[in-house]
Amino acid sequence: MIIPVFEGLTKAPNNATVNLSRSASIAVKSAFSSESFNGEMGESLSVWTTNCQVILLGLGKQEDLTTKKSRDNGAKCFASLSKKHGTEIIVRFTTGWKVEMMTAFAEGMILRNYTFEKYKKKDEDDKGPWSLVYQTVERYQKSLNLAVNRSYDIATGVHLARDLGNEPANRLYPEEFGRRALEWAKGKKNVEVKVWDYKRLKEEGMYGLIEVGKGSIHKPCMVFFHLNKDIDNDSEVPCIVGKGITFDSGGISIKGSAGMDEMKLDMHGSATVFGLFQALYATGYKGRVNGITCMAENMPSAEAYRPGDVINTYSGKTIEVLNTDAEGRNVLADGLWKAGELNPSYIIDLATLTGSIVIALGHEATGLFSNSQSLSQRIKEVGDEVDEISWPMPLLPAFEKQMTDSKIADVRNQGKGRWGGASQAAGFLKQFVQERENNEGEKKQIPWAHLDIAGTAGIWGGETNVTVGHGATGVQVRALHRLITQE
Ligand code: BES
Ligand code: MN
Ligand code: ZN
Repeated sequence: MIIPVFEGLTKAPNNATVNLSRSASIAVKSAFSSESFNGEMGESLSVWTTNCQVILLGLGKQEDLTTKKSRDNGAKCFASLSKKHGTEIIVRFTTGWKVEMMTAFAEGMILRNYTFEKYKKKDEDDKGPWSLVYQTVERYQKSLNLAVNRSYDIATGVHLARDLGNEPANRLYPEEFGRRALEWAKGKKNVEVKVWDYKRLKEEGMYGLIEVGKGSIHKPCMVFFHLNKDIDNDSEVPCIVGKGITFDSGGISIKGSAGMDEMKLDMHGSATVFGLFQALYATGYKGRVNGITCMAENMPSAEAYRPGDVINTYSGKTIEVLNTDAEGRNVLADGLWKAGELNPSYIIDLATLTGSIVIALGHEATGLFSNSQSLSQRIKEVGDEVDEISWPMPLLPAFEKQMTDSKIADVRNQGKGRWGGASQAAGFLKQFVQERENNEGEKKQIPWAHLDIAGTAGIWGGETNVTVGHGATGVQVRALHRLITQE
């Protein structure tokens, strides 16, 4: 049993000892009154009773608690638990807890309750999954229950995105991603998934995607997600696009070997899209939403595309390939243009696009580029609310100019130097966002935002995201779920 409490209690809160045995009650009461526990942030005290280990957890001053602190403490607390002492956890919220803070604490535990062990030998004395129960006073029970269930449903999407991100590239390649998406859609009435295979991509002229993926034996594909397809058929709805490079070796412009294994995560944009649709589905979202993922494996081979090549894209614009390792933007060129055909209210793309954004923001924030002040603002807000921070970066005309200054094609896939690499990439992507006429008859680009998640998609031993132990984070599933469902 975990009893998270605020600073300054001199004795056990009234309902802290309900249903505990007499001896356990006495032990817990004396722990609360003891000098060695004051409820300060980070403080904890473990009390052993015959059939239940009770942990008093300090969360500091009640007025200083934020949803972030509460969520992080739930996650940290969960990470410190050992199955040695049993798998049934009761979290008992007592004096001073509001539903929003309780939910955040529970959410932290739920998010952290994830491991990726499918390729490990099963532990002989595996104790099975955790069971988590949250207790509060009667008048909060209904709303806490609703809110925690919703967090749990959203977390199924986060965990799905992590599963996909963590899969090694020999297990999860473009066709396999497509197969899993189709399998996921089976039996779900308001969901449709379509896969455009290699042949179809050729028919459609999607050579941005084809050229990147053709060097691999695992051929590229484009996967479409449609939720509530038959609702509001002629209204504009969001379209979310994901970069899905199941492995990024760099291709002919091959990467160095240090850390190359991490490039199995280069499909996290597509993992987020898939996870987002699961979260929307699980929470019973009633609106229509579209998703597109651009799946390819970037490999060097005799069939691979090369530096110097000029490729056609779905948009009709040509790209001069100066670096085959700048592949994400090539595949997104086709995905973004296609998104423009789906009558979008706005387009958001997610991509582990540049090392440069990691230089700029570390692992703390997702880079946010947008042609729309209001869309950017809303993405920033929902990110702050769920603690998946997106940090606005500028879309400067100078970068667009660099990227459109090819001698022999319409666009070049590498900038003219290393400075501002994330902005160069964004300037490139912007060339593939369609324009349309607004009510006043002027041509304007569709509202679009690009989220560079290269720094936030994975945790390899870092400490910046305590809701994740290791590997893929499932980043932006919660933020985008909020953005879409709050409209
Ligand atoms: N997938 C990488 C970006 C990346 C780097 C993701 C580190 C996660 C962690 C991307 O395809 C890439 O290789 N980008 C190059 C672009 C350059 C060649 C213009 C980069 O950022 O160095
Ligand atoms: Mn690359
Ligand atoms: Zn890449």
